[in-house]
Amino acid sequence: MKYSPWSQDVARTLLATLRDEKGPVLMALQLMQKEFGYVDKDSVELIANYFNKSRADVHGVLTFYHDLRTTPPTDHQIAICVAEACQAVGARELVNQARAMFGDQINDAYCYGNCALGPAAMVDGKLIGRANLEKITEALM
Ligand code: FES
Repeated sequence: MKYSPWSQDVARTLLATLRDEKGPVLMALQLMQKEFGYVDKDSVELIANYFNKSRADVHGVLTFYHDLRTTPPTDHQIAICVAEACQAVGARELVNQARAMFGDQINDAYCYGNCALGPAAMVDGKLIGRANLEKITEALM
């Protein structure tokens, strides 16, 4: 997935599209991540100023949602569901194995709605059921 480098001008243009929205902070953070691949720390201040919120308000939303990133993405996006149903079928063990193999590229996720086929994983936008290291590795090729 190709992202734009962070730019205050682009970020301001994105925020202008939310001018009439109610409760736009989450949408603003999602727009930043969609455009830049993550939410830059400068975006937090920009969003706070733009919508007349405190940086703490914006930071609170940013840290509440696990899908929002504060660092640039790696080459591949790999997330493994660690919600209850997937934990019951070994998701935590899979996360530990995957982190040993792929390091920081592995993110936690919270339910892809694929609970009957857990553990579920998402690799570069592709949902994988009954995920294991072999399937994740295959999806990266
Ligand atoms: S609990 Fe993992 S997909 Fe729902």
